[in-house]
Amino acid sequence: MKLFKYEELKSNINGLKFIPNLLEYDNNNDWIENVYMSNIVTNINEKHQKITKEFSEKNKLVLKALIDDLKAKNMFNVILEIGVNRSGEHSSTQFILNNKTKDTKYIGIDMQPGLIASIYSEQQNNYGLATDSSNYDQILKYINSLGVSKIDLFIIDGWHSVNQVVKDWKFTDILNLNGHVLMHDTNYHPGPYCVYEAIDENYYKKEKHLFSELYDWGVATATKIKNY
Ligand SMILES: C[S@@+](CC[C@H](N)C(=O)[O-])C[C@H]1O[C@@H](n2cnc3c(N)ncnc32)[C@H](O)[C@@H]1O
Repeated sequence: MKLFKYEELKSNINGLKFIPNLLEYDNNNDWIENVYMSNIVTNINEKHQKITKEFSEKNKLVLKALIDDLKAKNMFNVILEIGVNRSGEHSSTQFILNNKTKDTKYIGIDMQPGLIASIYSEQQNNYGLATDSSNYDQILKYINSLGVSKIDLFIIDGWHSVNQVVKDWKFTDILNLNGHVLMHDTNYHPGPYCVYEAIDENYYKKEKHLFSELYDWGVATATKIKNY
């Protein structure tokens, strides 16, 4: 059973087989679907009380495997993350920063200047831009200004509407071959859920993790196996 009903529109975006178009909801909105894989949880309040905090320990294991893989391939050089450091210890950002040295460049994008300021350290090679992740050209210019043209790990964890995640996906244009994408919140939010389905297997080896974990937001990974 699909959690969200959508039609598949023709795609002009690299790496996506189709553009999802929700049939019952607005593609610009984010919400948590009040339908679960089992009937144990039937209302949103109950779920909110039980669900794991933000980026869970199991999510961290998935991210750690990507980091270890890149390190083993000697390509843990540049990380781009959309959605930065909002959840303290339950944060993908904190986990990345704790697992990198200054040899790896971290670039974060978030609308909230305070969150960017919280990670920014030229000494540690941690950078960030406070802007809407829709601002593709501005962000690309910023990335280039840091001497970067390609990224190795790309984390999508910003605004979880379908339209926004499709826009965010465009940064995979600069993802290196054998580099990884990690999308958070693939279990219940419309953008990550639907865009995961759209990822083209001709270009990516993709996997959904923790999908059967009722109380986890879920993560998906996609490894680029062919250049656009
Ligand atoms: C779920 S939090 C995740 C942050 C981080 N990955 C973590 O684990 O702490 C989502 C973040 O995305 C940011 N955000 C929401 N919409 C955005 C947009 N359109 N552009 C940039 N950032 C956005 C929010 O300010 C928020 O900090």
